[in-house]
Amino acid sequence: MSFIEPCPCVKVRKEHGEEVRLALKAANLLRTDLRIQHDDEFVYLPLTAEQVLEAAELNVEIELCNREFEALDKSSIVELTGLKPSYEIVGDIAVLTTELPDAEAVASAILKLHRNIKVVARRKSHVEGVFRRRKIEIIAGEQRTETMHKENGCRYKLDLERVYFNPRLATERARVASLVAPGEVVIDMFAGVGPFSILIARRVPESRVIAIDINPDAIRYLRENIRLNGVTNVTPVEGDVRMLHSEFMDTADRIIMNLPGNAHEYLPEAIGMLKPEGGTIHFYTVESMNRGEASSALLDKAKQKFMMYLRDASAEILAARKVKAYAPYAYIAGIDAKVYKQVHGGGRRNVR
Ligand SMILES: C[S@@+](CC[C@H](N)C(=O)[O-])C[C@H]1O[C@@H](n2cnc3c(N)ncnc32)[C@H](O)[C@@H]1O
Repeated sequence: MSFIEPCPCVKVRKEHGEEVRLALKAANLLRTDLRIQHDDEFVYLPLTAEQVLEAAELNVEIELCNREFEALDKSSIVELTGLKPSYEIVGDIAVLTTELPDAEAVASAILKLHRNIKVVARRKSHVEGVFRRRKIEIIAGEQRTETMHKENGCRYKLDLERVYFNPRLATERARVASLVAPGEVVIDMFAGVGPFSILIARRVPESRVIAIDINPDAIRYLRENIRLNGVTNVTPVEGDVRMLHSEFMDTADRIIMNLPGNAHEYLPEAIGMLKPEGGTIHFYTVESMNRGEASSALLDKAKQKFMMYLRDASAEILAARKVKAYAPYAYIAGIDAKVYKQVHGGGRRNVR
C-alpha cells in the first residue's frame, strides 16, 4: 500500500525538469521520499520547504503549488534519483563502480535505503601496483575506508584503500574450500586479507594453510582476521613468494594462485612448492574475449597459457570456468589442474 501526502511543490515545464530537480537537490530542497509527478507538459517536484526556495537559484520560470504525492516508502534508487547505479558492497561501504552524472544524489539514496551502509565511495583508480590496491573517494557518510565484511560465514576486517578485496569472488572461494580434504597442506600464494585461507581453515580444521602476501597491510589484517575467526591452522607469511618459496619446497597438496594478471609468471615457484607426487593448482588468469566469441574460446586461451608456463611439469586440467568479468570483453578465468612435477605417465600433457 502506498501513502499519499499533500506537499508544496515546484511546477516546471518538462524541458527544464532535470535542471530544476538538480538545483533543488543541491539546495536540499527536494523531498526524495515522495514520487515526482509528471503530466504532458509539466513536472511537479515536491519541496522540503517552499519559503527558502531562492536558495536553489533557479533561472527558469517556475510556479509554486500544492499537490498530493505518493510516498516512496519502499522506493528504489532509480525512483529516488532517476539513475541506475552499479555498486558493490564491502562490509558497510558501498563503492560505485561506474561514473554517474549525479553521484552525490545516488550516494544519499543508497544511505537512505540501506540502513546497514554507512559510507558511500567511488572508484578513483584501477587496481594498481604489486599490492593490487585501488584509490577510492568517499562521497557520503562516515569518513573511513576500513570496514568489516562478512562472507561465507567468516568475518574479514580490511581497508579498501590499503588491500585488495573483491566480494564477487565469494562463490569461487566457497567452491575451492569445498574441495579441500582433511590433512591437506594448502599454500595460498597471494592471500590478501585471507578470504581463501581462513575459509579453508574454518571448513577443514584438519588442514594446514600457509598464507603468503607481499603487502604488509594485507598481512596485518590477515593476522587480525585469523584471530577474529578463531582459526589456529593458518600461518601468515609476509614477503615476496618468489624470494621465500624455497622455504616451502615439496610441501603443498594444493596451491591457490589468485593473482590474475601475473599468476603464470609464478608457476615455476608453485610447482616447486607442490609435494613430490604433485598436487592441485587453482590458477586464475585474465583473458580477453572478442565480441561474439564463445566462452569456450576464452577458456581454451586460459588453458593454453597455463600449459605453456608449466615448463618441465605436466598437468591434467580438471575444470575451467569464467569466474567474473574483469573489463569490457575480458574475464578472469579459473583453472583447476592436477600438476605433476615432471612429465608424467609417458609425457602426458592433458588438456581436457
Ligand atoms: C588479487 S589479490 C588476491 C588477494 C586474495 N587472494 C583475495 O582473494 O582477496 C593479489 C595479492 O597478491 C599479493 N602479491 C602480489 N605479488 C606478490 C608476490 N610476489 N608475493 C606475494 N604476494 C604478492 C598482493 O599484495 C595482493 O594482496
